[in-house]
Amino acid sequence: MNISISESDIKPLISESDINSRLVTLAKEIADSMPRDMMIVSLLRGSFVFTADLIRSLYVLGVRPQVDFMTLASYGDSTISSGKVNIIRDISDDVKGREVLIVDDILESGRTLNFAKEELLKRGADNCKIAVMLEKPDKRKTQIDADFVGFVVPDKFVVGYGLDYANRWRELPFIGFIEG
Ligand code: IMP
Ligand code: MG
Repeated sequence: MNISISESDIKPLISESDINSRLVTLAKEIADSMPRDMMIVSLLRGSFVFTADLIRSLYVLGVRPQVDFMTLASYGDSTISSGKVNIIRDISDDVKGREVLIVDDILESGRTLNFAKEELLKRGADNCKIAVMLEKPDKRKTQIDADFVGFVVPDKFVVGYGLDYANRWRELPFIGFIEG
Protein backbone atom coordinates (compact mmCIF):
# COMPACT_ATOMS: atom_id res chain seq x y z
CA MET A 1 0.00 0.00 0.00
CA ASN A 2 1.40 3.40 -1.00
CA ILE A 3 2.17 5.68 1.97
CA SER A 4 0.74 8.76 0.23
CA ILE A 5 -2.90 8.26 -0.51
CA SER A 6 -5.47 10.83 -1.52
CA GLU A 7 -9.05 11.21 -0.39
CA SER A 8 -10.35 9.49 -3.53
CA ASP A 9 -8.55 6.28 -2.41
CA ILE A 10 -10.81 6.14 0.66
CA LYS A 11 -14.04 4.24 0.03
CA PRO A 12 -16.99 4.96 2.36
CA LEU A 13 -17.90 2.09 4.70
CA ILE A 14 -19.92 3.53 7.61
CA SER A 15 -21.61 6.91 7.29
CA GLU A 16 -21.63 9.69 9.86
CA SER A 17 -25.34 9.22 10.49
CA ASP A 18 -24.96 5.45 10.97
CA ILE A 19 -22.19 6.15 13.49
CA ASN A 20 -24.41 8.61 15.35
CA SER A 21 -27.37 6.21 15.55
CA ARG A 22 -25.16 3.39 16.76
CA LEU A 23 -23.65 5.61 19.47
CA VAL A 24 -27.08 5.98 21.05
CA THR A 25 -27.76 2.23 21.25
CA LEU A 26 -24.21 1.41 22.25
CA ALA A 27 -24.32 3.93 25.12
CA LYS A 28 -27.57 2.32 26.27
CA GLU A 29 -25.94 -1.14 26.33
CA ILE A 30 -23.07 0.24 28.42
CA ALA A 31 -25.26 2.27 30.80
CA ASP A 32 -27.48 -0.78 31.39
CA SER A 33 -24.62 -2.97 32.57
CA MET A 34 -22.06 -0.68 34.21
CA PRO A 35 -22.12 1.62 37.25
CA ARG A 36 -22.78 5.35 36.73
CA ASP A 37 -19.42 6.24 38.29
CA MET A 38 -17.32 3.99 36.11
CA MET A 39 -13.82 4.93 35.12
CA ILE A 40 -13.16 5.20 31.41
CA VAL A 41 -9.65 4.52 30.13
CA SER A 42 -9.42 5.66 26.54
CA LEU A 43 -6.57 4.20 24.48
CA LEU A 44 -4.89 6.88 22.41
CA ARG A 45 -4.49 7.87 19.83
CA GLY A 46 -7.16 6.11 17.79
CA SER A 47 -10.04 6.26 20.27
CA PHE A 48 -10.20 10.00 21.02
CA VAL A 49 -13.05 10.75 18.62
CA PHE A 50 -15.09 7.72 19.68
CA THR A 51 -14.49 8.45 23.38
CA ALA A 52 -15.57 12.10 23.01
CA ASP A 53 -18.83 11.08 21.34
CA LEU A 54 -19.45 8.10 23.61
CA ILE A 55 -19.16 10.03 26.89
CA ARG A 56 -21.69 12.59 25.64
CA SER A 57 -24.10 9.80 24.66
CA LEU A 58 -23.55 8.27 28.10
CA TYR A 59 -24.18 11.63 29.78
CA VAL A 60 -27.73 11.69 28.42
CA LEU A 61 -28.29 8.35 30.17
CA GLY A 62 -27.06 9.64 33.53
CA VAL A 63 -23.55 8.19 33.42
CA ARG A 64 -20.96 10.36 35.19
CA PRO A 65 -17.59 8.72 34.51
CA GLN A 66 -14.05 9.79 35.26
CA VAL A 67 -12.03 9.74 32.05
CA ASP A 68 -8.34 9.08 31.67
CA PHE A 69 -6.09 8.32 28.72
CA MET A 70 -3.35 5.85 27.99
CA THR A 71 -1.24 5.94 24.86
CA LEU A 72 -0.27 2.51 23.63
CA ALA A 73 1.55 1.67 20.45
CA SER A 74 1.84 -1.57 18.55
CA TYR A 75 2.08 -0.13 15.05
CA GLY A 76 4.70 2.13 13.53
CA ASP A 77 3.77 4.05 10.40
CA SER A 78 2.71 0.83 8.76
CA THR A 79 -0.42 -1.26 8.55
CA ILE A 80 1.24 -4.38 9.95
CA SER A 81 1.26 -4.78 13.73
CA SER A 82 4.71 -5.24 15.23
CA GLY A 83 3.18 -7.51 17.85
CA LYS A 84 4.71 -5.77 20.83
CA VAL A 85 2.72 -3.25 22.88
CA ASN A 86 4.40 -0.29 24.61
CA ILE A 87 3.03 2.29 27.05
CA ILE A 88 3.93 5.66 25.55
CA ARG A 89 1.91 7.66 28.08
CA ASP A 90 0.27 6.24 31.19
CA ILE A 91 -3.00 7.15 32.98
CA SER A 92 -2.63 9.43 36.01
CA ASP A 93 -5.63 8.19 38.02
CA ASP A 94 -5.60 5.14 40.28
CA VAL A 95 -7.72 2.25 38.99
CA LYS A 96 -7.59 0.30 42.26
CA GLY A 97 -11.08 -0.85 43.22
CA ARG A 98 -12.66 0.82 40.19
CA GLU A 99 -15.07 -0.50 37.59
CA VAL A 100 -13.19 0.29 34.41
CA LEU A 101 -14.37 0.59 30.83
CA ILE A 102 -11.49 0.49 28.35
CA VAL A 103 -12.42 2.31 25.16
CA ASP A 104 -10.59 1.67 21.90
CA ASP A 105 -11.10 2.34 18.24
CA ILE A 106 -10.76 -1.17 16.83
CA LEU A 107 -10.19 -4.74 17.98
CA GLU A 108 -8.01 -6.57 15.51
CA SER A 109 -5.34 -8.96 16.81
CA GLY A 110 -6.43 -8.13 20.35
CA ARG A 111 -2.87 -7.54 21.53
CA THR A 112 -3.43 -3.90 22.50
CA LEU A 113 -6.62 -4.54 24.43
CA ASN A 114 -5.31 -7.71 26.01
CA PHE A 115 -2.27 -5.79 27.24
CA ALA A 116 -4.36 -2.87 28.56
CA LYS A 117 -6.85 -5.12 30.35
CA GLU A 118 -4.19 -7.27 32.01
CA GLU A 119 -2.27 -4.16 33.06
CA LEU A 120 -5.31 -2.48 34.67
CA LEU A 121 -6.41 -5.68 36.43
CA LYS A 122 -2.85 -6.11 37.71
CA ARG A 123 -3.08 -2.60 39.17
CA GLY A 124 -6.19 -3.62 41.11
CA ALA A 125 -9.14 -2.61 38.96
CA ASP A 126 -12.22 -4.42 40.29
CA ASN A 127 -13.59 -5.19 36.89
CA CYS A 128 -12.54 -4.26 33.41
CA LYS A 129 -14.89 -4.20 30.42
CA ILE A 130 -14.05 -3.28 26.86
CA ALA A 131 -15.88 -1.08 24.35
CA VAL A 132 -14.66 -0.78 20.78
CA MET A 133 -16.13 1.15 17.88
CA LEU A 134 -15.05 -1.51 15.39
CA GLU A 135 -14.14 -5.16 15.37
CA LYS A 136 -12.45 -7.19 12.64
CA PRO A 137 -13.43 -10.83 13.09
CA ASP A 138 -11.09 -13.77 12.53
CA LYS A 139 -7.96 -11.68 13.18
CA ARG A 140 -7.56 -12.48 16.85
CA LYS A 141 -4.08 -13.45 18.06
CA THR A 142 -5.06 -13.48 21.72
CA GLN A 143 -8.05 -14.71 23.68
CA ILE A 144 -9.90 -11.48 24.17
CA ASP A 145 -13.41 -10.30 23.42
CA ALA A 146 -14.97 -6.88 23.57
CA ASP A 147 -18.06 -6.50 25.78
CA PHE A 148 -19.46 -3.73 23.58
CA VAL A 149 -18.90 -3.47 19.81
CA GLY A 150 -20.15 -0.65 17.56
CA PHE A 151 -19.75 -2.34 14.20
CA VAL A 152 -18.13 -5.45 12.79
CA VAL A 153 -16.09 -4.50 9.72
CA PRO A 154 -14.54 -6.58 6.92
CA ASP A 155 -10.84 -7.34 6.95
CA LYS A 156 -9.77 -4.11 5.24
CA PHE A 157 -7.62 -1.24 6.44
CA VAL A 158 -10.04 1.39 7.74
CA VAL A 159 -9.55 5.09 8.43
CA GLY A 160 -11.56 8.01 9.77
CA TYR A 161 -13.43 8.68 12.99
CA GLY A 162 -10.09 8.67 14.84
CA LEU A 163 -8.50 5.80 12.93
CA ASP A 164 -5.41 6.69 10.98
CA TYR A 165 -3.19 5.65 8.17
CA ALA A 166 0.34 6.96 8.93
CA ASN A 167 -1.26 9.36 11.44
CA ARG A 168 -3.56 10.93 8.85
CA TRP A 169 -7.28 10.87 8.09
CA ARG A 170 -8.36 10.78 11.76
CA GLU A 171 -10.56 13.84 11.13
CA LEU A 172 -12.94 12.13 8.69
CA PRO A 173 -16.45 12.13 10.21
CA PHE A 174 -17.19 8.76 8.54
CA ILE A 175 -15.31 5.44 8.38
CA GLY A 176 -13.83 4.39 5.07
CA PHE A 177 -11.43 1.76 3.85
CA ILE A 178 -8.30 2.07 1.76
CA GLU A 179 -8.21 -0.07 -1.31
CA GLY A 180 -4.84 -1.81 -1.37
P1 IMP B 1 -4.74 -4.89 17.71
O1 IMP B 1 -4.14 -5.63 16.55
O2 IMP B 1 -6.10 -5.44 18.08
O3 IMP B 1 -3.79 -4.82 18.87
O4 IMP B 1 -5.00 -3.40 17.21
C1 IMP B 1 -4.10 -2.42 17.56
C2 IMP B 1 -4.37 -1.07 16.99
O5 IMP B 1 -4.08 -1.12 15.64
C3 IMP B 1 -5.78 -0.52 17.08
O6 IMP B 1 -6.07 0.10 18.30
C4 IMP B 1 -5.70 0.51 15.97
O7 IMP B 1 -5.15 1.72 16.45
C5 IMP B 1 -4.77 -0.11 14.98
N1 IMP B 1 -5.50 -0.71 13.85
C6 IMP B 1 -5.87 -2.00 13.66
N2 IMP B 1 -6.53 -2.14 12.52
C7 IMP B 1 -6.59 -0.91 11.96
C8 IMP B 1 -7.19 -0.39 10.75
O8 IMP B 1 -7.79 -1.08 9.92
N3 IMP B 1 -7.04 0.95 10.55
C9 IMP B 1 -6.37 1.78 11.41
N4 IMP B 1 -5.83 1.34 12.55
C10 IMP B 1 -5.93 0.00 12.81
MG1 MG C 1 -5.18 2.45 18.46
